[in-house]
Amino acid sequence: MAEEYPHYIEFRHVYKTFDKPVLVDSNFYVDPGKTVAIIGRSGVGKSVSLGHIMGFLKPDQGRVIVAHEDITDLSEAEMNRVRRKVTMVFQSGALFDSLTVAENILFSLELREDFDEKNKEDIVAGLLQMVGIPDSADAYPADLPTGFRRAVAIARALAAEPQCILYDEPTTMVDPIMSDHLTELMLRLKKEMNLTSVVVTHDLDLLHRVADSVVFLSKGKIAFFGPPGDLYKSNDPDVQDFLELDKVIRGTGMAENDPFRKGLGGVASEG
Ligand SMILES: Nc1ncnc2c1ncn2[C@@H]1O[C@H](COP(=O)(O)OP(=O)(O)O)[C@@H](O)[C@H]1O
Ligand SMILES: [Mg+2]
Repeated sequence: MAEEYPHYIEFRHVYKTFDKPVLVDSNFYVDPGKTVAIIGRSGVGKSVSLGHIMGFLKPDQGRVIVAHEDITDLSEAEMNRVRRKVTMVFQSGALFDSLTVAENILFSLELREDFDEKNKEDIVAGLLQMVGIPDSADAYPADLPTGFRRAVAIARALAAEPQCILYDEPTTMVDPIMSDHLTELMLRLKKEMNLTSVVVTHDLDLLHRVADSVVFLSKGKIAFFGPPGDLYKSNDPDVQDFLELDKVIRGTGMAENDPFRKGLGGVASEG
């Protein structure tokens, strides 16, 4: 299988229309162990792209390859097999509010075929340690800040021992310290566990630290696909608008050697 589809994830000429075209000839790939960031304005089809990778959505045309397999025509039962390898961390965290943090993670652990009941407390503690919230086992998700809930969602995803994690806006609505922590965590999972990942984000700091490649979506099209450093060389007006808007949002608190500043080449003056 891996010979036929060398990329871990691949979109081949994917089209998807709802009331208007959302994905139009979408082509990109993610290699094993690599991280691809999907960026672009609200409503351009970032979450829809993740939905296709999970098989929650099917393309109108084109092929979707996931875990070195063409999943386009797989049944729901067959998709569940693929979803043991590829898991998603939803923006909401999608945790059970009536269960504690530990119980939320156990829920995912128990789905694992090799799960050993005896070790469950150790495994939960280890996962919480790994995501940096060792003291939250007995808390209820609703009582935790957003960033902690995202960390729990990541711990729960890891409990399934996936090959690949999809993150939908992991640092949105999170304070800067927690955002930094989540970014470091994603980087660690990539380096230490060789996890393949796709991250939908508006966070250019996360993008520069974690992503090997960037997909920029605008008006249904992929306006850019390549290494993050090359984004600043793109002539696409939508890419340039996006980068400029980010500069305004981030204000002037950037380092002298920030690639962002270099990329703009002094187009806008500092306020
Ligand atoms: N299940 C669906 N049914 C109908 N329209 C949808 C569905 N999911 C997404 N859309 C539409 O597709 C477009 C892209 O949505 P989405 O991928 O969620 O945007 P974003 O890039 O902000 O994540 C939006 O116009 C949205 O309304
Ligand atoms: Mg979205």
